[in-house]
Amino acid sequence: MTLLDIENLTVSFPQHQGVVQAVRGVSLRVAAGESVGVVGESGSGKSVTCMAALRLLREPPSRIAADRLELGGIDVLRAGRGQLSALRGRVAAMVFQDPMTAFDPVFSIGHQIVETIRAHRDISKADARAEASALLARVEIKNPDAILNSYPHQLSGGMLQRAMIAMALSCRPQILFADEPTTALDVTIQAQILHLIKELQAEFGMALIMVTHDLGVVAETVDRVVVMYGGRVMETAPVQDIFDAPLHPYTQALMASMPGRTPGKQRLVEIAGASPNPANPPTGCPFHPRCAVADAHCTAEAPAFRALSDTRAAACWRLA
Ligand SMILES: Nc1ncnc2c1ncn2[C@@H]1O[C@H](COP(=O)(O)OP(=O)(O)OP(=O)(O)O)[C@@H](O)[C@H]1O
Ligand SMILES: [Mg+2]
Repeated sequence: MTLLDIENLTVSFPQHQGVVQAVRGVSLRVAAGESVGVVGESGSGKSVTCMAALRLLREPPSRIAADRLELGGIDVLRAGRGQLSALRGRVAAMVFQDPMTAFDPVFSIGHQIVETIRAHRDISKADARAEASALLARVEIKNPDAILNSYPHQLSGGMLQRAMIAMALSCRPQILFADEPTTALDVTIQAQILHLIKELQAEFGMALIMVTHDLGVVAETVDRVVVMYGGRVMETAPVQDIFDAPLHPYTQALMASMPGRTPGKQRLVEIAGASPNPANPPTGCPFHPRCAVADAHCTAEAPAFRALSDTRAAACWRLA
């Protein structure tokens, strides 16, 4: 069953200097229970794609369009306020790099998790609080009842990250978007939290979209990888194929720059040349200025993203 179905998504931000084209025709499908890693260098449109899927971007200034944008059967672009609220609790949840963005500094952690639960379910405050406490215990917080009474600024980064995951899971979403959920933490805690997210994914039977710069994390956590560049998807393939037999020249450049697969140590390396300017993207394939095998066709016309087999797809004229 397809849970997230994105076809030809574009997101732009009109500005004085011109229009920033953050996402330029992304198509992405995620099945129930599937875990997908999204990789690509800074500014490639990973976060904006996730935010747009949940309609978390302010419109205006952002402008979102798609041939299809469905999440759990809900037409995201036509959803009303009530449907969007259900979408963001029961269907999907998101955890961010900075947990302070998920919590309101003026309310206790407990209050915020209880309110989140009660916004989506008809359940008493006491029951919601018991559930919140159990969830905090599940994310390996040792003294859950004390933490429920704490305020966000009283917790360490790692604790707050765990509390944010607990809050995200409190409505039992079918899909979790995790946008660089551990980059701000030290390496040992990163590994623990990623391990936890993976465990919870299996336990809750959720789909997972994991945005990360860490290819070691990708190798250990996901079934399939989506490689983004310049606001487009360059390639998607099962995780083993991305490492063993990358097809797109950009994916090949990424893999060539990667010596091993230890989580926390395999930050995506910048490859030679400048990233495309999203306010003035190159003609044709966005990667052509940095591509070793680009020809006139690549400069003139953007390649369509197309299937190469049952499990693989890419946008590259040289793979035609
Ligand atoms: N609110 C905004 N207004 C204008 N431009 C924006 C806005 N949000 C994002 N952008 C631009 O959209 C492009 C894609 O941004 P996005 O945050 O999705 O990149 P990313 O792949 O998540 O990068 P990173 O790995 O650094 O998190 C970037 O050029 C960014 O500057
Ligand atoms: Mg981002």
